[in-house]
Amino acid sequence: MRIKGSTAWITGASSGIGEALAIELFSQGATVILSARNEPKLHALKASFDKIEPGRCHVVVCDVTRQEAVDQAVDKIRQLVSRLDILVNNAGVSQRSYALETSIAVDRDLLEVNFFSAVSVSKGILPWMISNGGGHIVVISSMAGKFGFRMRTAYAASKHALHGFFETMRAELHDRNVKVTMICPGRVRTDISVHSLTGDGKIYGKMDAGQAHGVPVERCARIIARAIRCNRKEVFIGGAERFLLLVKRICPPLFYWIVNRVSPT
Ligand SMILES: NC(=O)c1ccc[n+]([C@@H]2O[C@H](COP(=O)([O-])OP(=O)(O)OC[C@H]3O[C@@H](n4cnc5c(N)ncnc54)[C@H](OP(=O)(O)O)[C@@H]3O)[C@@H](O)[C@H]2O)c1
Repeated sequence: MRIKGSTAWITGASSGIGEALAIELFSQGATVILSARNEPKLHALKASFDKIEPGRCHVVVCDVTRQEAVDQAVDKIRQLVSRLDILVNNAGVSQRSYALETSIAVDRDLLEVNFFSAVSVSKGILPWMISNGGGHIVVISSMAGKFGFRMRTAYAASKHALHGFFETMRAELHDRNVKVTMICPGRVRTDISVHSLTGDGKIYGKMDAGQAHGVPVERCARIIARAIRCNRKEVFIGGAERFLLLVKRICPPLFYWIVNRVSPT
């Protein structure tokens, strides 16, 4: 996949990884379509791109949990650009609550934003992408999509579900020239903990120490861009937490000993 000259739609582009990836793809020559709910932040980012090269960035405000909004966003994008090469399913919300303190409504909300929104956005755009000869679906999962971690039950469930769905999509779309890349970050320095939900659906509002010491978001964005260029199937991004997966495979008792001791905040 050549990024220069391509067109990429990024959900959750108003902050964190989505914003950094928009900057990275734009700087590598892509036209970027920015979606999220926070319109002023999206327009501020677009204004910074327009100063460099007007016409290579579009804003399509969209709450990805609302089917009607997703349908409208797809229609608008089809009017704005002639083809879409890359879709980045990035919009997401994390969790900071133990299962026993979390209402089922919050569990469902987390599945809605982290899992079903990626499904509905992808299903919305894929028929058009396929009719244009194919494309690349990027899914921002998490290390929590690979193993359980305290205070993340519904979040981890939503990220595990992404792997089941999109790995099957990869197999189904292989002959239609649609690639799928799963990105599994560990801790990346963004406001994700600040925006997380607590058990009763309130905003957690705190920058966790673990988050503050995560990998710089710009580095994460560069790794994602490289994964797109090289058509990687699955990529792990982070610090020492990347080795936990290896430990889980070669020495499960050690893995469980470590994971039960890592602070969830
Ligand atoms: N940071 C990490 O350590 C880390 C680790 C693993 C995985 N991830 C994943 O990376 C992705 C991005 O997270 P981040 O760290 O960049 O967090 P973030 O800074 O909180 O960004 C989350 C983005 O998702 C958007 N979003 C949330 N709900 C939305 C909705 N209903 N409709 C549309 N957009 C919505 C937000 O925009 P609005 O509020 O403007 O809508 C925001 O742009 C998430 O999928 C997250 O699970 C992050």
